[in-house]
Amino acid sequence: MGKREKRQKHQQRNARRGACNYYEEEEDTSSYQLDLPTSSSLSDEEKEMNNSETPSKFLLYQQSVQSPKGDISYLLKFFLMYVGGRLPLHLQEDFCGTAFLSTEWLRSDSRRTAIGLDLDLEALTWCTENNISKVGADGYSRISLFHGNVLQPLESKLVKTEPQGLIRNLTLEENKECIETDVLESTAQVGSMDQTNGGIMRNFPLSARDIVCAFNYSCCCLHKRAELVCYFKHVLEALSKKGGIFVMDLYGGTSSEHKLRLQRRFSNFTYIWEQAEFDIIERKTRISLHFHLKQQRKLRHAFSYSWRLWTLPEIRDCLEEAGFQTVHFWLREMPGTEENKTTDGFGVGRDVKYKR
Ligand SMILES: C[S@@+](CC[C@H](N)C(=O)[O-])C[C@H]1O[C@@H](n2cnc3c(N)ncnc32)[C@H](O)[C@@H]1O
Repeated sequence: MGKREKRQKHQQRNARRGACNYYEEEEDTSSYQLDLPTSSSLSDEEKEMNNSETPSKFLLYQQSVQSPKGDISYLLKFFLMYVGGRLPLHLQEDFCGTAFLSTEWLRSDSRRTAIGLDLDLEALTWCTENNISKVGADGYSRISLFHGNVLQPLESKLVKTEPQGLIRNLTLEENKECIETDVLESTAQVGSMDQTNGGIMRNFPLSARDIVCAFNYSCCCLHKRAELVCYFKHVLEALSKKGGIFVMDLYGGTSSEHKLRLQRRFSNFTYIWEQAEFDIIERKTRISLHFHLKQQRKLRHAFSYSWRLWTLPEIRDCLEEAGFQTVHFWLREMPGTEENKTTDGFGVGRDVKYKR
């Protein structure tokens, strides 16, 4: 392989989000010998994974794909730059999956609230049991998860969270607490209505959002231009009239337009990104995420998405058509590429940040 080919291959490897440890899969993964660390070097979650029969695909996804702390620092930076004058407190995470970002958002300031919206009820339920429970005592009262379509957000149904189970079990003798429950139900951020009993977003007086976000290329799940514009209009409607921001990321570039299989090795599992042949007419690709665990256990197609690969100008046009005042693009050369050393503005090696 020539120097140029090697460089191209290296760039492909790093073309995924947070992909500094990816490498192209060249061997039969069924025979992987995973690097298993000693138990003392494992985090609690990793130990949990090693102990359980098969770890949840959601836990594996959160570990390998997401980095909510980094996302939040960008959200704060963008809000201060483009709106300013106040602290952002109210976040909406669209296409939230397990709402990992939302729960992280709640952690560092007790005034913060979060709304998560997704089509996948299993992911939302997993969130209530595994993520919200780690926020602290008031976590459930500051987050509202809605099950539904981002194209019809107001019709989405509130997902029951853990404390509601307790509320339902109250007896008549506990009248005083029932009164408190009524009070809770009337507040904006408490997810305490039954989803089969009219508990839809339209009926909730939710705080206007300072920030709405759609991460991990989720807007690629929308395939039609009209859908994209419709979605962006709903976002604008949800944002505070005092000023707010919508932040999304986008998947694209030359490496996205052909078949590709990448993998990233973690201490106790291997994460595989499989990209199908690119459909140049529809501009679509299919992404499958697989997890290979130790003892040859595999979670094949743990997640699978059909993505339309929108271009930056298409996104800008749709945002403007939906009514957004300004659109800013932030780009980052993926860390570790040869070009980082030579390209103006990106010459800071591995700590490359997004640049406007
Ligand atoms: C690529 S995942 C992103 C998950 C999460 N936001 C993250 O950062 O990793 C896309 C998510 O969007 C959800 N989704 C796809 N189409 C949707 C729609 N029309 N309305 C609501 N959620 C949708 C899927 O269920 C899935 O959880």
